[in-house]
Amino acid sequence: MNIKTLLASLTLEEKAGQLVQLPPYFFKKEALQEVAGPVQRLKLREQDIFLAGSVLGIGNPQEMKDVQSAYLAKSRHKIPLVFMADIIHGYKTIFPIPLALAGSFSTQNFYRMARASAAEATLSGIHVTFSPMADLVKDPRWGRVMEAYGEDPYLAYHYAYAMTQGYQGKSIKNQDSLAACIKHFAAYGAALAGRDYAQASLSLHDFYQQYDAGYRGAVDAGVRMAMTSFNVFEGVPATIHQTLLRKILRKRMGFKGVTISDYDSIIETVVHRVSVDDQDAVRQALLATVDIEMASGAYIKHIPTLVKHGLIDIELIDQAVLRVLKLKKDLGLFANPFKGANIEKEKSFPLSASQLTIAKSLADESIVLLKNHRHLLPLVNQKIALLGNLSNSGALLGPWSWHGNRDLTPSLNAVLKPFIQHSVEDVQKWSDPFKQQIKAADVLVVMTGEEEKESGEARSKTHPVLADQTIQFIKQLKPLGKPIVLIVTAGRPLVLSAIVDDVDAILYSYFLGSQAAYTITDTLLGKNNPSAKLTMTFPRRVGQIPIMYNHLNTGRPFLGQNFTYTSHYIDESNLPLFAFGDGLSYTTFQLSHFKDVSSLEDIQFSLEVKNTGTRAGYAIIPVYLDQPFAPVALPNRQLVGMEKRWLQPQESQIFIINIDRQFLTYIDRDYQRQNLKGKLSFVTVDGATTLSIQKEI
Ligand code: NOJ
Repeated sequence: MNIKTLLASLTLEEKAGQLVQLPPYFFKKEALQEVAGPVQRLKLREQDIFLAGSVLGIGNPQEMKDVQSAYLAKSRHKIPLVFMADIIHGYKTIFPIPLALAGSFSTQNFYRMARASAAEATLSGIHVTFSPMADLVKDPRWGRVMEAYGEDPYLAYHYAYAMTQGYQGKSIKNQDSLAACIKHFAAYGAALAGRDYAQASLSLHDFYQQYDAGYRGAVDAGVRMAMTSFNVFEGVPATIHQTLLRKILRKRMGFKGVTISDYDSIIETVVHRVSVDDQDAVRQALLATVDIEMASGAYIKHIPTLVKHGLIDIELIDQAVLRVLKLKKDLGLFANPFKGANIEKEKSFPLSASQLTIAKSLADESIVLLKNHRHLLPLVNQKIALLGNLSNSGALLGPWSWHGNRDLTPSLNAVLKPFIQHSVEDVQKWSDPFKQQIKAADVLVVMTGEEEKESGEARSKTHPVLADQTIQFIKQLKPLGKPIVLIVTAGRPLVLSAIVDDVDAILYSYFLGSQAAYTITDTLLGKNNPSAKLTMTFPRRVGQIPIMYNHLNTGRPFLGQNFTYTSHYIDESNLPLFAFGDGLSYTTFQLSHFKDVSSLEDIQFSLEVKNTGTRAGYAIIPVYLDQPFAPVALPNRQLVGMEKRWLQPQESQIFIINIDRQFLTYIDRDYQRQNLKGKLSFVTVDGATTLSIQKEI
């Protein structure tokens, strides 16, 4: 297929159509009810709908086949539709939310999740996923932190890179590969005060120094699409931001693929009062090189007029259409418009044993042990009472798992049952019979946190804490004198200060997906040794937000309460409740012999790590650049390398940690990236141990 010849054969309206994405119900007569709103507003005619080039979201392979067939039957040019959807942490087999998996400190795990997601999702005829989401996040008030990797740019870069590779496989032409779409460009995660869709509160310097890393990772891995964000960035809505999209994304980062707006975000620039009307919004988006418009259909309506009136050069439209046609060609859609869709296999492969095994091992590596007073965990032969409002719930998949089935997802109560010597109903009511029942138990396991609908898009909170009712419940349990294990299922870091001293152990599970209950059970009982570390700082008070490990130094760092004019709060410590990198294990590791073993090309450090405990487990060793000196202020610490390995009890291994030179840089006053020079300090940290090295670069 010669796409240039094809382009030349298209009418202006057909070209505009290629740049429009509509939800599937536009194409199905029986769903006309649902489209009444948008259709009426934009006055899309049926022939307009059948010009659209792509579809947003699809339920199953049959639906894909129906929509594609109906479309091809009606369209003159027979260019297949491309189907795109949000496959964020799995299709039907649901993996841990990205914020949880980030704690596994493993790029390989992100690769595995993306590959396994692609292998399932392609069976329903999906060709593009709106993932990875690589927005850097520092504010747990924002509900979408669950989709992100946390506050660290090194992790964001490498995770986005690995996910892109995992989705796209060797070639996006392959039956089991999805084209990836990096989002949300740009800085959507810096939403002011954590309120979704709000302006990004950051400087251009912050952007280049930290926030762009995730997007760069995906672009470097060859990501095929990029989605613009809803927020205003440096005064202009990102979706029509010419500097952002042309100069930064396409030129500076070298992105070669297709850009897409977020849902209705182009016409929303009228609400921002930056576009006069929908037509002006479309004009500005085209000038910024936004290729596909998601949802509203305004491109179909306004592109032909804009071109006819000379307000947009046809060349700009042609370039955008060519990029879309190239994507379709590279996906192999001209050869097979029904690519991937497989009705039989879509029924049997998702949730199969091999997929669930991946989900389980990723969940095992994602659960975080935050507290374990007197080694309460793992539980051995204790009589367990299982309590808490989420203990009977199968809603453990987390947001952005459209195709996941809560009824097929076992609750903790269902899985832990054989091990609960003393079973107690999930009771929130405080009564005497209830008290009697739990008095017979040796340990109280309380599973609580957030419900699925409390995080995700448009789920911002001013007070990300445990519910009052839950706090009261735990306070009432305390006087019973039984050890308490708290399991927190949530989409964000919650402020746990109110109960941290009332409980003996805390397992932070986030949303672990299809196998959540099995992982929690295995972790409680010691079959799984927890190893994950936090990638977002947990505040001790809401007023500390945003709080992160990699902040800049002040000229007046905190020196102690006796020094008034230093950077501190008068009513709270500066310290978080749990820091970036915190996370315990059932074993302990001893670190020694931190050495420079660099070659001419690579900066590498070696380290001897010994498992000094009685259980096998993963040791995660991070290396940070510590207190660098530069012409601009830089964070006190920045992760620059990591290594993770499995160690048997008493086993010692030499870890070799590669340092990523990209993170030994700073952004100068002209926003150019420069290498750090001179003597640099590096540290590695595990619990109370910190080892350091100085190295001349
Ligand atoms: C809006 C969200 O911001 C974006 O992440 C998502 O991909 C689109 N809707 C499509 O569902």
